[in-house]
Amino acid sequence: MENTTSKQDLHQRYIANANKALQENVKTIDTTYRLHYHMMPPAGWMNDPNGMIYFEGHYHLFYQHDPYQSKQGPMHWGHARSKDLVHWEHLPVAIAPSEDYDKAEFGGQGCWSGSAVDNNGVLTLIYTGHVDGKTPEEVQALATSTDGVTFHKYAANPVIGDSPDAQRFGFRDPKVWKHEDNWHMVVGYGKDGLGKGLIYTSSDLLSWEYQGAAAQSDGTMGDMWECPDLFPLGEGKQHTLLISPMNIAPIKNLYLSGTFDYASCRFDKQQMGQIDYGFDFYAPQTLLDDQGRRIMIAWMNIWGATMPEQAHGWLGGMTLPRELTLAADGTVRSNPVPELSMLRGQQVSASDVALSSNEFVKINGFHGDSLEMDIVFDLAGTEATEVGIRVRSSEDGTDYTEISYSISEQKIYMDRNLGGEGDGGVSEAPLQLSSDGRLQLRLFLDRSSIELFAGEGRVAMTNRVYPRPEDIGISFFARGGDALLQTMNAWQMRSIW
Ligand code: FRU
Repeated sequence: MENTTSKQDLHQRYIANANKALQENVKTIDTTYRLHYHMMPPAGWMNDPNGMIYFEGHYHLFYQHDPYQSKQGPMHWGHARSKDLVHWEHLPVAIAPSEDYDKAEFGGQGCWSGSAVDNNGVLTLIYTGHVDGKTPEEVQALATSTDGVTFHKYAANPVIGDSPDAQRFGFRDPKVWKHEDNWHMVVGYGKDGLGKGLIYTSSDLLSWEYQGAAAQSDGTMGDMWECPDLFPLGEGKQHTLLISPMNIAPIKNLYLSGTFDYASCRFDKQQMGQIDYGFDFYAPQTLLDDQGRRIMIAWMNIWGATMPEQAHGWLGGMTLPRELTLAADGTVRSNPVPELSMLRGQQVSASDVALSSNEFVKINGFHGDSLEMDIVFDLAGTEATEVGIRVRSSEDGTDYTEISYSISEQKIYMDRNLGGEGDGGVSEAPLQLSSDGRLQLRLFLDRSSIELFAGEGRVAMTNRVYPRPEDIGISFFARGGDALLQTMNAWQMRSIW
């Protein structure tokens, strides 16, 4: 008992140190690329969303966090909450590496990704304790809170001490949910070149029974499935499995939709696709809210990228919250939550703007770096081969990010090769023109991010861009023939901070 108390004290001391360091680091960050209306850490490093849950009137969002530095180090869980999914309140660091199963003197270590559940009013975090080179390297552990702010690690951690087979490539990122009276966990796993989602079940969150793999790669879906999330979407047995597969570049995320059978714990895939086509989208996680909506948020960066904001004392944004729905054909759609419209400020609208081939058309007084835009091109009968928008353009027009739609290829592109600092590249997605010849695009520009939504949620594309702050020009264009910008409605977005 004594031992337990002093361990708790030690954990709380690590947390106090982390919060102190964070407060100091906040004072020195460069705000150039700070986002106006996306969640980000106060300072330091942030990766995956963790522990997403709607709990006692708040949306809680924890995240992989190094409060001491803007690079990946010993992972803590940062913590924020929101009443409306739009405005976020930063809370103290929730958990810190402190035990032999999540802390080491040297090397990679920490409280790695996981999830949260409401266990009769006790907010319970289930995470991976990771210590590089230790045997086993990854175990599953619990921490609990009764006030939703202060967390204590379970004294008898870990609750899952090893993977079913020691010869494995990864065993991490537990996502737990309740079905009837039982807790279910899907945990990411990789073995013999195949990513898998393993299932465990429990009646009390403390003792867990292994049920085998719900699903695994067919050889083309990555060798380790990070951050799996398995949840009901649609009717009856219909479920969706989100995964972040390793080593199938350029693909970084996949969804599988199908059915999950709770008796056998097997997932039967019917459809598969990408939930986002951009470069900066990883480790999505979901929650179910009090309105029955399945809300997804992802890390708006990617491992291995240049990450210009790191030199500014911080790293990492979260995507806008998106609602997931299952379409009749089994594909999964994602759309930004309607609450975001509360940030709309000054509006600019235009209609029936003629776009002559190869000209760049500006709309009077319209520019910015913090905008929502809803754009409709009328392409019925057009001779144009391409239409699009340039955003974040420099005064002289040499720097910009271009979003273009190829009518002949039925593809949408985002080209950030001239977008400023950071990595270039062109992301692309298939997008069929609707039968009436209209192309509707929704764009959310923040100071260092662009999120595109098209095709009623069929396509989402998320990229970070790092232009100069003064590069805020916007223009519309057509190529290969004339086209019509039928309507444009845009709003300056207010800051949430
Ligand atoms: C995914 C990931 C997880 C891991 C965490 C570590 O981005 O690699 O698999 O738990 O990040 O921070």
